[in-house]
Amino acid sequence: MVTLFSRMRRPTVVLDEPGEDKRFRLFGGRRHLVAVPYPLPKDMSEINRLDFQHYLLRTGFGGNFIAPISAPRAILDVGSGSGRWSMEAATLFPAAQVVGVDLVPPAVDDAQVLGHGLDVRPINYSFATGNILEGLPFPDASFDFVHQRLLITAIPMDRWPGVIAELARVTRPGGWVELAECGVPERGGPGLMGLWGSWIEFLQRRGVDFALGHTIGQRLSAGGFANVRQQQLNFPMGDWGGRIGRASATDCLAVGRALRAGVIAAGVLPEPEYDRLFALTEQEFANKRGGGALPFYVACGQRGV
Ligand SMILES: C[S@@+](CC[C@H](N)C(=O)[O-])C[C@H]1O[C@@H](n2cnc3c(N)ncnc32)[C@H](O)[C@@H]1O
Repeated sequence: MVTLFSRMRRPTVVLDEPGEDKRFRLFGGRRHLVAVPYPLPKDMSEINRLDFQHYLLRTGFGGNFIAPISAPRAILDVGSGSGRWSMEAATLFPAAQVVGVDLVPPAVDDAQVLGHGLDVRPINYSFATGNILEGLPFPDASFDFVHQRLLITAIPMDRWPGVIAELARVTRPGGWVELAECGVPERGGPGLMGLWGSWIEFLQRRGVDFALGHTIGQRLSAGGFANVRQQQLNFPMGDWGGRIGRASATDCLAVGRALRAGVIAAGVLPEPEYDRLFALTEQEFANKRGGGALPFYVACGQRGV
C-alpha cells in the first residue's frame, strides 16, 4: 500500500495561461477541459465556487458523509475538484491515506501548501490523475471508503452502471461507497425553473441525465451494494431561506454563469432568453416570500464481504 500511494505522489503542473495546454480550451471566457462530457469550467473561479459549495453542503448536512465509517485506512474521493472534501477527510482521519482523483489536478495542487500557511495540505492527502469513465488507476479492493460527489453532469446516463461497478471494484469487501448528487429545484419561480430546464436540455443533448440525482441509492442497490440508505435534504434557494438560502442562490447563479455559453452554443436557448431567465431568477431569489428549494441526495452502500 505504501508503494501505491508514494508512487501516486508525482509532481503536477497546471498552466495558468489558457491555450498553452492542449487539454483545455477557452470557451465563453472560461477554461474548459476538451474531450470529456463534463461541461463546467476548470479554472480558479470554479475552484472557489466548489470550495464555497462544499462549505454550504457541509453546513447543511452537518458533516461530510453519512456512511458509518470507523478507523478507515484508505479513502478515495472520485472527482475531487478543489480537493476540499479530501483534505478535510485526511484531517478527520489522520491514520488514513486519502486520495483525491480527478481529470486534472486543481491549479493550486502543485504547491505543497495552499493559501498562506493556514491552508496546509495534510501529509496523508495526495492527488492522482484519473478518469472514472476509463477505469480508476488503482488495484482492486484498495479503499475502505470511496466517495463521489456531484459528478452528475460528467457521467452519460448509459455509463452509470459501469461507474458503480468501478467504484465497487476499488472498494474493499465490507467497505463503503457514498454518492451525493443534487436533484431538480421544487417550487421555484418561472425564471429558476426555466433556467434549470435549459441545463437539463443542454445536458440531455450530451447524453447526460441531470435529473437522476434521486436515483443514486437505487443505483447502488442495483450494483450489488448492501445496507443501502439514502438521505434527502432540501436547500432553500433565495433570501426566503436566510443565510443558507442566499448561499445556495449564489451557488446556483454561479453555475448559471458557467453554463451560459454552452446552453447558447448548443442552441437550447437564444442568448436574450437565457439572460432574461437569469435576471428573473435573480429577482426571484431576492423575493423574501419566494419558495424555491433544491433537493440534495446522499446515499451510501456497503460492498459485500
Ligand atoms: C462539480 S465538480 C465536484 C467536485 C467535488 N466532488 C465536490 O463535490 O466539491 C465535478 C468534478 O468532477 C471532475 N470530473 C469530471 N469528469 C470526471 C471523470 N470522468 N473522472 C474523474 N473526475 C471527473 C471534474 O473535473 C470536477 O472536478
